[in-house]
Amino acid sequence: MLHLSRRGLAALAITASGALAAPALAQQAFPSRPVTMVIPFAAGGPTDTVGRLIAQAMSAELGQPVVVENVGGAGGTLGAQRVAQARPDGHTVLLHHIGMATIPTLYRRLSYDPVGGFETLGLVTEVPMTLIARRNIEANSLAELVALIRRRGEGLNYANAGIGAASHLCGLLLMKAVDTRMTTVPYRGTGPAMNDLVAGTVDIMCDQTTNTTEQIRAGTVRAFAVTTPERIAALPDLPTSAQGGLPGFEVSVWHGLYAPKGTPAPIVARLNQALVKALQDEGIARRFADLGTAPVPVARATPQIHREFWQADIAKWRPLIQAAGQFAD
Ligand code: MLT
Repeated sequence: MLHLSRRGLAALAITASGALAAPALAQQAFPSRPVTMVIPFAAGGPTDTVGRLIAQAMSAELGQPVVVENVGGAGGTLGAQRVAQARPDGHTVLLHHIGMATIPTLYRRLSYDPVGGFETLGLVTEVPMTLIARRNIEANSLAELVALIRRRGEGLNYANAGIGAASHLCGLLLMKAVDTRMTTVPYRGTGPAMNDLVAGTVDIMCDQTTNTTEQIRAGTVRAFAVTTPERIAALPDLPTSAQGGLPGFEVSVWHGLYAPKGTPAPIVARLNQALVKALQDEGIARRFADLGTAPVPVARATPQIHREFWQADIAKWRPLIQAAGQFAD
């Protein structure tokens, strides 16, 4: 029989009320300082573009700055590691993309848990990819580009943002569809890679419309296909892969927001609330539309749907990656 003195009961009451109040206090105080949004690729790329738009809108909702920190390298795993190992207090979040579904299979020796290290905060957007090349490439159609790749093979340089990046995944699909390997040139993001493509020092890249639309419109690169089943309004003259003769060469890059595992549920809910408000921002919807994408519908922007979608995508890509036999270790 546990006997508690009056002082003991008082201490228990304080502890209980303190324990009961902790999540509420955490939520009341959150955010108590600027929130860091880690973008796991270099500034100026498509992931950075999505992240900065969302960060700006979330700042308004949270009442604290959401400060973007670009942590590029190793196909987006260095940035993911930074967040997985951050304090789970809601002040560090990760804006990542489809790489979160391919990294668990591609990287077999990580110093963080690529799935169990995160809380999901909600899906953000889904971005088509475009197959582009330096503007003086010796091809005027997708069929001619495929013939050139088959002829030149590893004599052509294919730019990507490292193993695990969307540009890497799209390159895997392209080289599988064409049944030919090219020489891959990794960058810390497709922002810097685009500079070399425009300069003509690298030949081909598959990248998200949030980075390529404006370059295609400006004619600084040549575009051959969009990797979606239907053409996109932002680039109405660009044929789909199927229309260009490569049916099945399709991939869209989804983006999600994450916090470190163990972030208290009230803070996860507060961050999701701020994300949902950002997804409803008309300015973001307009900017996304101009870049060939759109915010996910609010009904799909729950942490639970994000986790289920993510787990299904890990299972979807695992056999393809294993069949390709290319791993990061
Ligand atoms: C990717 O290829 O995964 C991204 O385009 C990289 C980036 O956002 O720079």
